[in-house]
Amino acid sequence: MAHRIVDKEKLSENVYRMEIEAKYVAEAREPGQFVLIAYDNDRSERIPLTIADVDLDKGTITVIFQAVGKSTIEFASLNVGDSFDAVAGPLGNPTDIEKYGKVVCVGGGIGNAPLYPIVKALKQAGNEVISILGARNKELLILEEQFKEISDEIITVTDDGSYGRKALVTEPLGELCSKGEIDLCVAIGPAIMMKFCCQTTKKYDIPTIVSLNSIMVDGTGMCGGCRVEVGGETKFTCVDGPEFDGHKVDFDQLIKRLGSYKKYEQQAAAEHNCKLEGKL
Ligand SMILES: Cc1cc2nc3c(=O)[nH]c(=O)nc-3n(C[C@H](O)[C@H](O)[C@H](O)COP(=O)(O)OP(=O)(O)OC[C@H]3O[C@@H](n4cnc5c(N)ncnc54)[C@H](O)[C@@H]3O)c2cc1C
Ligand code: FES
Repeated sequence: MAHRIVDKEKLSENVYRMEIEAKYVAEAREPGQFVLIAYDNDRSERIPLTIADVDLDKGTITVIFQAVGKSTIEFASLNVGDSFDAVAGPLGNPTDIEKYGKVVCVGGGIGNAPLYPIVKALKQAGNEVISILGARNKELLILEEQFKEISDEIITVTDDGSYGRKALVTEPLGELCSKGEIDLCVAIGPAIMMKFCCQTTKKYDIPTIVSLNSIMVDGTGMCGGCRVEVGGETKFTCVDGPEFDGHKVDFDQLIKRLGSYKKYEQQAAAEHNCKLEGKL
C-alpha cells in the first residue's frame, strides 16, 4: 500500500516536516510511538521516525526528520504527491501519560520533534509543563511556536548565543531542579545531551524519562540491533522502549554503538548525495 505525501515543509537547515497518508497508523497511534518508513520496499532500509502528530480527519501522520544520511537524504528529496512504500506501525510503547504535577521537558535539536506529542499529551493530562528547547544555533531551533502553544513556560537556549540564552540545556534544567519543584523530567535529544540531563536530575532525585534513538533494523525485537543496557539488563529499544528510566541507561555504550557504522554511513551518504545533487 502506497503512502502519499500530502504536505512538506522545510523547517530549518536539513530538517523537514512531512504529512503522510497512513490512516490506520494515525488511528492507533499514542504519544511516544514511532513508525518504520521505507521509500522503496525492494531497495530501501526501514528508518525509525517518531509520529510527531496525527490528523484523524485526513488520515495522516506527521513526521519531522533531519536529513543526516543516505535514507533520510532520500526522504528529503521526495515531494508532495510522491509515496512511501511502507509506513509500519505504530511501534514501541506509548509514553506513560499521567498527572505528575510540574514536569520539565527538555528537547535538543531534532529531539524537539519526538518531544512535541509528549508535551501536548502531558499538558492535556493537567500537568504544568516547562519546555526547555536547545539547539546549536538559531537556524537549527525547530517548533518553538508550536511548543509555546502547549507549554506553561518555555526556555530557549543556543550553544552559540544566536537566539535565547547562550547555554546548554543542562544549565536552566539544573536551576529549575534546584528549586525543588519538579516532579518529572522528560529529555529527548542527542545521546550525549540525554546523558548530561540525567546526571543533572539524578543529583536532585527527579525521575527522568528518555527516548532512545538506537540504530534499528527490523523493529520487532528479533535482530538485536537496537539493544541497550538499562539497569544492567539488555533491553531492545524497539519493543521494550523507546522510553526508559534515564538514570538506569548506559549512555556510554549507546554512544559507542551509534558510532559503530559511521565510516559506512558517511560513504553511503556521500555517494547518494552525488546522485541527488540539485534535487533537494
Ligand atoms: C525510535 C526512534 C525514533 C526516531 N525518531 C526520529 C525523528 O522523529 N526524527 C529524526 O530526525 N530522527 C529520528 N530518529 C533517528 C533516525 O532514525 C536516524 O537519523 C536515521 O535512521 C538515520 O538514517 P540514515 O540512513 O539517513 O543515516 P545513516 O547513514 O544511518 O547515519 C547518518 C548519521 O546519523 C547518525 N545516526 C544514524 N542512526 C542514528 C540514530 N538512530 N540516531 C541518531 N543518529 C543516528 C550516524 O551516526 C551518522 O553519523 C529516531 C530513531 C529511533 C530509534
Ligand atoms: S531493531 Fe531489531 S531488535 Fe530492535
